[in-house]
Amino acid sequence: MLMNDISPASTLVADQQAPLRRVLIETWGCQMNVADSERMLALLATDNYQATLVPEEADLIILNTCHIREKARHKVVSRLGRLQELRHTNKDLTIAVTGCVAQAEGKSLLASHAIDIIVGPGKIAELPALVANHKQWKQKAIAIGFSKAELLDPADQTCQKSALEPPPSLEGKNPVARFVTIQQGCNNFCTFCVVPFTRGSEISLRPRTIRAEVAAMLAQGVKEITLLGQNVNSYGHDLLAASSPAGEELLAAPEEQPFVALLKDLVTLPGLESLRFTTSNPHDMTAELAALFATEAKLGKHYHLPLQSGSDRILQAMKRKVTRADYLSKISWLRQAVPDMALSTDLIVGFPGESDEDFADTLSILAEVRYSFVFAFTYSPRKGTAAIRFKEQVPEAIKQERLRRLNLLQDQITLEENQAEVGKIRQVLVHYRSRKNPLYFYGRTEHYRLVRIRSDQEIRGQVLGLTILAANKIALAAEY
Ligand code: SAH
Ligand code: SF4
Ligand code: F3S
Repeated sequence: MLMNDISPASTLVADQQAPLRRVLIETWGCQMNVADSERMLALLATDNYQATLVPEEADLIILNTCHIREKARHKVVSRLGRLQELRHTNKDLTIAVTGCVAQAEGKSLLASHAIDIIVGPGKIAELPALVANHKQWKQKAIAIGFSKAELLDPADQTCQKSALEPPPSLEGKNPVARFVTIQQGCNNFCTFCVVPFTRGSEISLRPRTIRAEVAAMLAQGVKEITLLGQNVNSYGHDLLAASSPAGEELLAAPEEQPFVALLKDLVTLPGLESLRFTTSNPHDMTAELAALFATEAKLGKHYHLPLQSGSDRILQAMKRKVTRADYLSKISWLRQAVPDMALSTDLIVGFPGESDEDFADTLSILAEVRYSFVFAFTYSPRKGTAAIRFKEQVPEAIKQERLRRLNLLQDQITLEENQAEVGKIRQVLVHYRSRKNPLYFYGRTEHYRLVRIRSDQEIRGQVLGLTILAANKIALAAEY
């Protein structure tokens, strides 16, 4: 996704002449899609679109899709099937598919399904014009791909849009936590992964663009910012390589890793309570970054470091570029900086060739690191990736059985780690109020553990020192 074709923020003012219309966006996949959905809402607001959650009242429905596992496409196709019924009562309905399925399978989807517009992650800025065209002329359209010229000159990125105007939030309230994309795409080509194909090559946004976006969000009352990229630790290396003004901005601190310099700069912004980031490829994670956690309290005491497998043989076949020992030494840097650092990870079970011994290596790392939580998936063969051609694909039943065993072990560890919190006083940033019960709020501790807080006061956005009263494997409990 590129930013240089986006209207300047000053033009992001709703066109009062346009009729009021309603847009429903369904967002699947990772936080990048969440950030992209917000951007789409902000762009569409200029054409007087307001967000709705009710399909029957929508003039425009956008499915912002994920392609990471095979189920993703099935989900889109079945959702599209159900949405077609709405066309009987609303002849003017426009249905758009965006996100990673749009980029990967847009052409075939447009031919075979009742979709009006397809827009890939690299072409979001074109969405409003394509929607307007469809409304007026019923013209179907597809915009996918990544422009090469833009890739070659990252210095031309202009200010990123949505942040400079509040997004039309669904509940009319500003959220406590927001995402900010700092890096598009990925150059790593891990053998299981579609992301380099769906999101294009790695491009870093300029430091001053990011700073402006974060500052604008903080000015709206946001307290927590999560920086997004597929490999945030390599942030800025492309800017340094292209001798551009953006590279010079980074070179202001030549001795520092660009991502570390970025974090150090952002934590100084007034109003910021918590600065987080995801995702962090262990290959590019440095001791310098780990050490920053010892001095910058706003970074918290939690690190998500995706491992994928505990077996060196499998890590190599995945092209992860780290060994188990490399990974564990990076964990030890983090625990040197913050002895009670909470850790989480992503794991894949049933990668081609994974033997019982390889899987046992993954289980043993769970016991060794004692993650606070784990996102575990069965390996899903993806078209276009190298691993789909690997021999020794693991039978589905074995994958499912390994996943079950892994989750059983991790659930026990998560429960024990959560229960060890009972009686401790933790700093909790309160994120939102329960929809079901207004006496309950949800927040996160500095270790990023979910806390349910019972309170009869409005506490959203506050950082509270709370005693943890109880815990299960999902969350901690406190009162205020
Ligand atoms: N950039 C991140 C990962 C982004 S994808 C990193 O390098 O760690 C998010 C997660 O989806 C991955 O960590 C992996 O665990 C999972 N995933 C990606 N491709 C997958 C596939 N083909 N099958 C199963 N899980 C997959
Ligand atoms: Fe996918 Fe690997 Fe890139 Fe992560 S680093 S997005 S797993 S290719
Ligand atoms: Fe899915 Fe695309 Fe994110 S494939 S995980 S939405 S980068």
